[in-house]
Amino acid sequence: MDVFEAVQKRRSIRAYQPTPVPKEKLLRVLEAGRLAPSASNIQPWHFIIVTEAEKRQNLAQSPFARFLKEAPVVIVGCGDQKASPKWFMVDVAIAMQNMVLTATSEGLGTCWVGSFDENQIRETLKIPENYRVVALLAMGYPKEKFDMQGKILHLIRRRKPLEKIISLEEFGNKPKTRQKRNNHRQQADKKVYSYGHNHRKPNNIEQYGRSEFASPNAYKSSSCSQKDAKDKRGRNFASC
Ligand SMILES: Cc1cc2nc3c(=O)[nH]c(=O)nc-3n(C[C@H](O)[C@H](O)[C@H](O)COP(=O)(O)O)c2cc1C
Repeated sequence: MDVFEAVQKRRSIRAYQPTPVPKEKLLRVLEAGRLAPSASNIQPWHFIIVTEAEKRQNLAQSPFARFLKEAPVVIVGCGDQKASPKWFMVDVAIAMQNMVLTATSEGLGTCWVGSFDENQIRETLKIPENYRVVALLAMGYPKEKFDMQGKILHLIRRRKPLEKIISLEEFGNKPKTRQKRNNHRQQADKKVYSYGHNHRKPNNIEQYGRSEFASPNAYKSSSCSQKDAKDKRGRNFASC
């Protein structure tokens, strides 16, 4: 799985099988954290691997963290605030996201957890004073069927569109991504209508904005004709 696939595939998993995480997978995940960048290479992190049921129960006090009881592994990400007062949180978060993506590529599910009582965790895990608890990470094999909450949240928590979250050169200066998309749409429309034998208008014009027909790639082959063009289900365009 390449990195972008892992980024796309990942979603928060809140229901886990009791199957333990194999040691070699866990080590690979931790190695991904170890290799993360950090400000001035200070590496102000420390990760506590929690597998004992009683301890996990202690970490799972918040109503938004109940699934920590089930997850066979919880990684507690701590940051040394004295070593890197400005960046410890960022550094720990980067390392943990490296772990998340590696876990995804290893077939494991994860969920970030920010709902915790820091003092309780410090006490339970005997964390020294200069370390802050940055976040917790649940990890294990997903119990897909039972993860309804996760599935629903993932569906309703769609991401903001790109044009809403980026600016060009200065804040608020909107790149014309919408226009571009429309251009693709227009190009696709033009090609569809100029590709000869089938002049039928698509059933749903909106599909041009969403499917591969929106992209010039749909037509990139030099031999591409409407006959060759395929829709998402692999049907010839002419027949769809
Ligand atoms: C810093 C951070 C803290 C989070 N804390 C919690 C949490 O306490 N409980 C929980 O169920 N999900 C938590 N999440 C998961 C988010 O709710 C989730 O990432 C978001 O809804 C997007 O859904 P997705 O991860 O499935 O794409 C947290 C995520 C992040 C990045």
